[in-house]
Amino acid sequence: MSAPSQRCQVAIIGAGPAGLALGQMLALQGIDAVVLEARSEEYVRARVRAGVIENTTVDILTELGVADRLHREALVHNGFYLRFDRTTHRLDFHRFDGRHAYVYGQAEIVADLIDARKAAGLPLVFEAQDVEVDGIDSATSEITYVVDGEPQRLVADIVAGCDGFHGVTRSYLPATVRTLERVYPFAWLGILARTTPVTEEGMYCAHPDGLSVHSMRGTHITRQYLQVPADTDLADWPDDRIWSELKRRSASDDHPELETGEIFDRSLAPLRSVVTERMQTGSLFLLGDAAHIVPPTGAKGLNLAVSDACVLSHALGLFYRTGDRSGLEAYTDTALPRIWQAQNFSWTLTSILHRFTDDPFDWELRRARLQRWAESDAEQHGLGEVYLGLPFPTPWRAE
Ligand code: APR
Ligand code: PHB
Repeated sequence: MSAPSQRCQVAIIGAGPAGLALGQMLALQGIDAVVLEARSEEYVRARVRAGVIENTTVDILTELGVADRLHREALVHNGFYLRFDRTTHRLDFHRFDGRHAYVYGQAEIVADLIDARKAAGLPLVFEAQDVEVDGIDSATSEITYVVDGEPQRLVADIVAGCDGFHGVTRSYLPATVRTLERVYPFAWLGILARTTPVTEEGMYCAHPDGLSVHSMRGTHITRQYLQVPADTDLADWPDDRIWSELKRRSASDDHPELETGEIFDRSLAPLRSVVTERMQTGSLFLLGDAAHIVPPTGAKGLNLAVSDACVLSHALGLFYRTGDRSGLEAYTDTALPRIWQAQNFSWTLTSILHRFTDDPFDWELRRARLQRWAESDAEQHGLGEVYLGLPFPTPWRAE
């Protein structure tokens, strides 16, 4: 017996920020989509990721009607703190253009988007295993997958690959498409702890021995990171070692010492920058981490995923309303410039804030740049424009 078959306009593979934001944008334009997610709902809702959201992204989530809880619960920040040479500097970007950064975990945004999709009764399949795509060069594509051991089949005009860096859709790009990559020789050891943040906005501490980052989720939970070697084993980092290193790198003459407390989540993330030069082939379009990765410094990943969703949603709106394929054809060229701006920002922050070598010359060069960031309005204005979010390349809705 053949697998049951379903027809839709857009098949979205992956229910992270890219796939769920695209699903919401398409629903509001009357375009029907099915979202297929390999993991369970519980897993996706609980996955701990970064949590600094650009003003630009918050504006879009608000327009999409999924930001009510965000506006109630998110911390609203003007910028961040920078600490080096035991001295703390406040970088206030809000003063330049009245915009903010919002601190709200990625898992919360994912939960809000899942809730909206469920409330609208729109299709979202969790635990969809062995997703395979066939026919991206023909008029329709066939997506096969397995749920509860039962084979399923979905026929779609368009496939949106939103399945992250380790997903399957990237593999359908022609071998001639180049992937540009930079791998950094370190990782971030991240913790969630029940402690009070040491500063009221997030802080990067550039220490000659390596970076520490002091962020938060609400007022009683901190999210902190340590630069560690790429081959680090979490087993070598008991709580005491994590706290003493966080304290050492963040020691200052102008603030109390970091508070310690219960660590209830820890993880290790390698740092890399990746850009797939062409984010589409035939009727397959890649979004978010499936197409590009930024190092976590500057927290641009989620924001880029939403920005890609805007570009594709706009192109699909135009296509389904008028039959005009120009937006779809221009998808990569429209999305890439903003992606490279975010890559440049993340790379700049990564280069200046991390220790790459033990050459004191390198530290002095970095320190000179940190001094400019701390003292110069012009430097802060430039950093703030990107930190709070460059404009998205297109609106999400095709008028
Ligand atoms: N089939 C279906 N779903 C898959 C498959 C597959 N073969 N492989 C992966 N997935 C799912 C993952 O389980 C995940 O839920 O695709 C989703 C991809 O989501 P994210 O990794 O969150 O990627 P994206 O939506 O592009 O958002 C980018 O997430 O990784 C962070 O820091 C990154 O903030 C950035 C953001
Ligand atoms: C976070 O809060 O998770 C965070 C903060 C700053 C970063 C990255 C992540 O640069």
